[in-house]
Amino acid sequence: MTDKTHQVDAVTGHRRMRRLRKADWQRRMVQENRLTVDDLIWPIFVVPGSGIMEPIAAMPGVFRMSVDKAVEAAREAADLGIPALATFPNIELSLRDETGSQILEANNLINQTTAAIKKAAPNIGIITDVALDPFTSHGHDGILRDGEIVNDETVDQIVKAAIAQADAGSDIIAPSDMMDGRIGAIRRGLDAAGHQGVGIMSYATKFASCHYGPYREAISTSGLLKGDKKTYYIDPANGTEAVRDAALDVEEGADMLMVKPGLPYLDICWRIKEAFGLPVFAYQVSGEYSQIKAAAANGWIDGERAMLETLLCFKRAGCDGILTYFAPEVARLLAKRS
Ligand code: PBG
Repeated sequence: MTDKTHQVDAVTGHRRMRRLRKADWQRRMVQENRLTVDDLIWPIFVVPGSGIMEPIAAMPGVFRMSVDKAVEAAREAADLGIPALATFPNIELSLRDETGSQILEANNLINQTTAAIKKAAPNIGIITDVALDPFTSHGHDGILRDGEIVNDETVDQIVKAAIAQADAGSDIIAPSDMMDGRIGAIRRGLDAAGHQGVGIMSYATKFASCHYGPYREAISTSGLLKGDKKTYYIDPANGTEAVRDAALDVEEGADMLMVKPGLPYLDICWRIKEAFGLPVFAYQVSGEYSQIKAAAANGWIDGERAMLETLLCFKRAGCDGILTYFAPEVARLLAKRS
């Protein structure tokens, strides 16, 4: 025994962490968190028309799909065991207006998609957003009046939209607009309309982040957006404020909470899971997805490992699931491995 080894022994005693890392079987025995297909929620983009699978340049491997193609994708996702989809529409620019009135149409693109998927693949959950941004001519999540996003009028509008979405068959309403008081208003609206069973997954802590860029290309809002969303999304500097905002949503009746973006905000995932104990979901947003895809395409990182590692880290941070554009890719990979 060399002096050096003796020194190590003297310091660590019997506490040698590497014993639990020495072999694959041993590491599997002590692995604390695992990613399964049940953790995945797949956000998809829908366009008008039929037979359309349109690649999104800023999101390699992601497509805008017409409703018929979205139905096929939903069937495949259900077969893979993915529990739920989150749908986002890219509607005609000619239908977008100052107040996002198209969101109130019973048969708009998002509601058509819900109804078609529910018919073809009844066992996959449908999560719909009620933010106005895909429907407004200015790309904001609310109604814009004299340069201001007006809160209460927007809330009235999204409550009506939530009821229309539930009527079309949506299982979970997920408001991403960050207006104050929306969760309580949506809950009351849904209940009054007989939709007591429709859940609310609040985008409780949504940050004014740079990571939404590719999404805005996907739904064609990047060219429309005037200014920024800092008067309603949370400042990336503020963790305690985010927890306070989530607390209000819990009080108002949210069933589940979401943190968005995901990876740069793992501390928030952990804090709100600890604070409230509600199911917590992270949204690994478009910019996070595209960064991994771009670096992998350049050969700078192993894309598959980056995908699996980032998703697993959400589990370690206390998340019950992840909204991710990787969902079908990772589900196929997990199926192959089991
Ligand atoms: C807006 C909304 C955003 C995303 C989904 N709904 C952010 C935005 O455009 O400001 C982002 C999703 C993503 O980046 O993957 N209500």
